[in-house]
This record gives sequence, structure tokens and C-alpha cells, in this order.
Amino acid sequence: MGNTRKSQKRVSKTNAVSTFFIVFFVLAAVIIGWLALDFFSGTKRSGVLYTIGKNEYTLSAKEAYNGDTLMVCFDDIAVLCEMTETGSAQSRTFFAANSEQSIAIEADSQIALLNGTKVDMLATAKLRDGKLYVPLLFVEQYMSGIEVTHDSGDVEIRRGEYNASTKNNPLYQDTVFTGTAEVPLDAPDASLDKTAPTYSFVTDLSAYEPYMCPEDPDAYLILVNRETTISAEYVPGNLVEITNVRKDGRTERMVETAEKALQALFIEMRAAGYTDVSVTSGYRSYEKQAYLYNLYTENEMKAGISRTEAQKIVDTYSAQAGTSEHQTGLCCDMHNLGSASQKFAKQEAYTWLIENCYKFGFVLRFPEGKEDITGYSFEPWHYRFVGRYHASEMHRLDMCLEEYIEYLAENQ
Ligand code: DAL
Ligand code: ZN
Repeated sequence: MGNTRKSQKRVSKTNAVSTFFIVFFVLAAVIIGWLALDFFSGTKRSGVLYTIGKNEYTLSAKEAYNGDTLMVCFDDIAVLCEMTETGSAQSRTFFAANSEQSIAIEADSQIALLNGTKVDMLATAKLRDGKLYVPLLFVEQYMSGIEVTHDSGDVEIRRGEYNASTKNNPLYQDTVFTGTAEVPLDAPDASLDKTAPTYSFVTDLSAYEPYMCPEDPDAYLILVNRETTISAEYVPGNLVEITNVRKDGRTERMVETAEKALQALFIEMRAAGYTDVSVTSGYRSYEKQAYLYNLYTENEMKAGISRTEAQKIVDTYSAQAGTSEHQTGLCCDMHNLGSASQKFAKQEAYTWLIENCYKFGFVLRFPEGKEDITGYSFEPWHYRFVGRYHASEMHRLDMCLEEYIEYLAENQ
């Protein structure tokens, strides 16, 4: 009896040991298999042989790919196509030979500027050994004047050789940067990169950068006009007194971020020699808008015209209550005249303002020539804060706020 129990114990001990080893080996096999799969999938690509003109070299898979995207050295293409270039290793503009065409590429950015137009390359450009690498697909689709052939292990980029018989060879032409792809890359997406450009100033404005370039670049894009009105109760938060207000005892207020950016503008404007400009108006409550509109109407009526006729005139230069962006606290009137007048456009200070205001995040809100869009006559004194990124874009695109908001809606 005692022996039987002992041998039963031994059997169950042996079973436990073998179960342990079976479980152990199965687990080990699973782990080794998983690691092997991971290892081989990460290294399954082999190197790529590049032939760019007469230049031939091989890059390892790690060097040739950015994630799953096959890359190509743009510096080598630029040499092949006899391009000239400016900028730093990190951020360069290449100019096609014999033309104004250009392409700007920045390391670690997915956006290239193709003749000034943003193009999404779908993978970031990479800087290696001082050379910029871009997705091959991007080169294929946006450059002509070269022939690109490739399979998984070979990339060949050629230009034709000039001789009498190749005179008409379509390869032998200057490089052109255009979208010629049958399957175009994604349309430029204005929402992708909203990094504000950097500008150099004669004064040290570094402390003002966070205000000129707010962390959320879209936070100051609010549109207020006749169609998009603002509620009577709306009062912006963070209204502060405007530093550079006209020194005649008045106080005017603006949203703090806009006001700080405006301080930076004034510092630089004064350094440029324009010292007599001052702010005459900032935030306007709903009641103040109503008061001003009525005041201007009464003034116009002094010419013997009806209220309706007077209002028609006033509507070209003063907003009815609830339709003025002065209620946002993001704009101000500034000039160097006794009262706001289009004569300000003749002043050098005005020229400085329109050439520079976007660098500080401001735009001229009611420009000449856009009256049909803004609904108001030209106001060389009225500047609106939108932040540097959007102000620079509006400047580049030559768009007023109404046009730009529509453009963003279509491109985002
Ligand atoms: N003068 C501009 C249009 C306003 O009253 O807001
Ligand atoms: Zn104004």
C-alpha cells in the first residue's frame, strides 16, 4: 500500500516536470519565432543602387528609406540638372537652370515649396552628410526634364546627352517643377504646417515673439463683418490698455496678445524713423458702435439728405452695431493725422506699415481694390491682428480676411 502511494507520487511528480518543460519549450518557441519575425521583417529590404547621371552609389535600406518611403538625394539631382542653390544645409532653395523656377526643401519638413506653392511630399525630407534627401515619388511627379526609372533595388535618374540626334529628346531640356503625375500627390494642405516664418528686425523683439506668433496660430482668425455678426453681449477676455495710444488723454484697449504684438510693431516702426503714428481706436463695445454709427448718420444728414440716404453713405465706412470687428479687441486704428483719412496712404509711415505689419501678425483689414469683398472703403489706418503665420500667408497670397477664410475652408 505504502509503495503504491510512493510510486503514484513519483508518477505525478514526473508528469508535473514534463508539463513544465513542454510549456517552457512552447513558450520559448513562440518568443523566438516572434523575435525572428520581427528581426527579419525589419531587415528584409536590401540596399538600393542609385545611378544619378554618372554618379553611382549604393545606400543601405536604412539610408534609402524613410519609413516605407524610398528617398533620393536631391543634391545629386541638382548637380545633374545644373541647378543653383541658396540657403543652409538644413534648408535650401534650388533654382532650375535657365529659369525662375525654384524648389525649397527643408530637412525634417514634409512640405516643399514648389515655385512658392506648398506641396506635401508625404514623407519628411532628411539631411544626411550635408545632403538633402526627398521622397523619390515627389521627384517623379513634380519634376520634368529628367527620366526616373526604378525597381526595388535600383533607382536611375538620367538627363539626355546633347548631340545632333538627341536634339529633340524630351529628356534634354531644362528642369521644370510641375505636377505632371498621372496620380498626383495629395493637394497642398494648408493645415499641415502652420509654423510662423522668422523675420529679422533691427531691434531686439525676442521677448515679443510668443505674442506675434501665438501658440495656437488659429486662435485669432475670427471673422466679423456684415454677414458674420457678433452678439451684443460679446466682450473679449484679457483687454488691456494700448501703450501706443494717442497722447490726448484717451484710453483704448485691445486683447493682450494683440496689444503686445502691436508694441513690437511700434518699437520697430520707431527704429525705422516713423515716430508720429499713434493708435486712435481699439476695442469698441456694441453700444459704442451704435453710438458712432448714429453720430456719423446725423452728420451726413446735415447735408440735407434723408436718414436712409445718410445711412447708405455711412455704411461704406462705419459698421452698424454688432458688425464691427473692433468688438473683437483684435484691431486698432492708427495713423499720424488729425483724424482718420485716406490721406494717410500718402505717408511714408503707411508704406512702412503695409510692407511690415504682417511680420508682427497684423493685416490691413480694408485694402484698396477689395471694397466689394470687405464691404468697406479703403481704410489705410485700420489693422487687424491674426498672428504672424496667417498674416504672412495673407500677405503672400494678397488676400483680405474674407478671401483668406474662404481659401482656408477650401484647402484644409
Ligand atoms: N470702420 C470699420 C469698418 C468699422 O467701423 O468697424
Ligand atoms: Zn477701425
